Amino acid sequence: MISELTLGNFRNYPKSNLHFNSGSTLIVGPNAVGKTNILEAIYALATGKSFRAETEAEVIREGQAVSRLVGKVIISGTKVAGSPSTSLRASETKEKGRESGSGGTEIELELDWDARERFQKLYKVNGVGRRQIDFIGHLRAVLFSPGDLEIVADSPSTRRRYLDGVLSQVYKDYRLAAHLYERALRQRNRLLWRIREEQIAESVRRIEMEYWDGLLVNNGAIIHERRKEYLEFLNNLPSKIFPIELQYDHSIISPERLEKYAREEIDAAVTLVGPHRDDFAVEKLQDTRNKIQKERDVKLYGSRGEQRLAVFAIKLGELEYVKTQTGENPILLLDDIFSELDHTNRHHILEAIPKQQTIMTTTDLHLVEKNLLKHVQLLELK
Ligand SMILES: Nc1ncnc2c1ncn2[C@@H]1O[C@H](COP(=O)(O)OP(=O)(O)OP(=O)(O)O)[C@@H](O)[C@H]1O
Ligand SMILES: [Mg+2]
Repeated sequence: MISELTLGNFRNYPKSNLHFNSGSTLIVGPNAVGKTNILEAIYALATGKSFRAETEAEVIREGQAVSRLVGKVIISGTKVAGSPSTSLRASETKEKGRESGSGGTEIELELDWDARERFQKLYKVNGVGRRQIDFIGHLRAVLFSPGDLEIVADSPSTRRRYLDGVLSQVYKDYRLAAHLYERALRQRNRLLWRIREEQIAESVRRIEMEYWDGLLVNNGAIIHERRKEYLEFLNNLPSKIFPIELQYDHSIISPERLEKYAREEIDAAVTLVGPHRDDFAVEKLQDTRNKIQKERDVKLYGSRGEQRLAVFAIKLGELEYVKTQTGENPILLLDDIFSELDHTNRHHILEAIPKQQTIMTTTDLHLVEKNLLKHVQLLELK
């Protein structure tokens, strides 16, 4: 859980210090007062980036050069101890235990313009600089915001970004693989371009190409395995709220496939296969005469309400996934959900709220169930 958050020149906050208890917090205030900005800050400490900034520098308070977020994190395990799925996870948990001590772990994200006017991000854990891949994972959060409708409604890149966001928080090997894959992909595309434009020698290009191919195939396999495992996990959860099945549309990368597309890739000067071309479809399931039948794609045929429920079902599954895979309770961040969901579907979220630290926002207390209000810490913004 996060016990304390300090925002320095982040969005509309010059300097602010907030305390949270381990239960539920409801941030209430009028439009544009800075409610979502708080959730954005917490989520940035979890993932290393903003969930809504188009350019990362836009979170720096207008007219300022440096933005700093500091969070104090205390590990809160799930009651039913989830067994770490790999030895890597076990060692990560141990490492965090050591760092954490009794006062918690302090994690810090700084965004600024350096002396050469280049945007940069710096990560610290207990005052010590870390690489992004070693920073992420100290705080885990699941976010549900109105913009998440895009996961169903938007292009494949949105769904890949979603998968990356979840899996990067959970697995260090995924973070590393995604980082190496992206770098190798850029280099390989540049090489393809050089081959096309500059006609570089066959011998030179084969050695270089083999190197990038190897990186893409090996790291692509890790990315693929984790994505497959996650989507299968979601499909195997009993669906309470909205029956969906996620179909993984996997762009296989292998030496054979790269060989097959070699000519086309040079012509296009881009790598045509691999996890950077993955997608998944969200399908609604319908029970017809006790025989489960697949319905049509929610993106194409679902109503807006159905799309919202599908995303909501995915998010509740994500919460379960993070819990079982890490043995820790992630923070649940709910942005403006009370105006979003209809009455019958709210009880599912109300059920989920007390199971971990939950931080939510609303413009209007009247939108929030009275029962819930009894149990929340109110944070009023004016
Ligand atoms: N870089 C920035 N510098 C200063 N102010 C900013 C910056 N980025 C955003 N803001 C301000 O933050 C405010 C929006 O904050 P936020 O989105 O958190 O509002 P909110 O309380 O969630 O509102 P709503 O109820 O409409 O969702 C706006 O007034 C906007 O101008
Ligand atoms: Mg908002």
